[in-house]
Amino acid sequence: MRLKGKVAFITGAGMGQGREAAILFAREGARVIVGDISSKAGLETVRRIERRGGKAIFAEGDVGVERDVKRMIDTGVKKFGALHILYNNAGVLWKDRDRSVTETTEPNWDRVMAINLKGPFFVAKFGIPYLIRSGGGSIINIGSVSALCGFTVAQDAYTSAKGALISLTKSLAIQFARHNIRCNIIHPGIIATPMQAPYLKDPKRRKSFEDSIPLGRIAHPREIANVALFLASDDSSYVTGTEIIADGGFCAQ
Ligand SMILES: NC(=O)c1ccc[n+]([C@@H]2O[C@H](COP(=O)([O-])OP(=O)(O)OC[C@H]3O[C@@H](n4cnc5c(N)ncnc54)[C@H](O)[C@@H]3O)[C@@H](O)[C@H]2O)c1
Repeated sequence: MRLKGKVAFITGAGMGQGREAAILFAREGARVIVGDISSKAGLETVRRIERRGGKAIFAEGDVGVERDVKRMIDTGVKKFGALHILYNNAGVLWKDRDRSVTETTEPNWDRVMAINLKGPFFVAKFGIPYLIRSGGGSIINIGSVSALCGFTVAQDAYTSAKGALISLTKSLAIQFARHNIRCNIIHPGIIATPMQAPYLKDPKRRKSFEDSIPLGRIAHPREIANVALFLASDDSSYVTGTEIIADGGFCAQ
């Protein structure tokens, strides 16, 4: 029960590692505000949490739209009475539309930025006042190893958004430290989630990904959720403004 008494807002919690984290956080005692653009996916996460005896509420919205994020957070706080953890997990990886700068259209660039970077800005903007009211809290951002070493196949908007998120993480950590608010970023390598599913279908491609990772395998979403749990809980009470790489050793090569 490492999150007993806490309320967590997790974006993109309808699928993938966001859902995994929502279930894990609830198991550890948190009440979870499941944020997602898909009501079907978000409600399914809530159902899974409640089946296990946990507490959650679904908040539908697009993280790239300011009024949606405000409404999602306000709805959750109204239900659970407080807020302690902001988990900026929602993100999109559009390998077909987000390519090299020479090939990417402005609307596609803007949409990737809106979801992957502006979303965390809105969540921080509307969430931090509640964290301050709670006497402190933890903000967790999801970056990517691509922000550290680039992609072999260019996805310039995604990579830029995740890179900028590192800077935002450090800025928030410094600004709000005196309010007992910590802010950190996790850089996952490849995780077996619906996001990667289309690219992992081909066994040859999957094998080549696996061969590129020192641990020799793709991450299970739980392996990232466990890092998020550490950052959300008081176990990481002196950890702020930093980056945790969870990539099976990929960046160490
Ligand atoms: N899967 C990987 O290999 C990998 C690697 C590095 C980083 N990441 C990052 O991890 C995070 C989660 O990825 P995942 O693999 O679980 O993704 P996923 O695609 O499996 O799930 C993402 C969830 O976010 C929701 N979502 C998408 N756009 C949204 C929006 N505009 N507003 C609200 N919700 C929205 C989706 O409905 C979905 O439920 C992302 O930030 C991603 O960039 C993933």
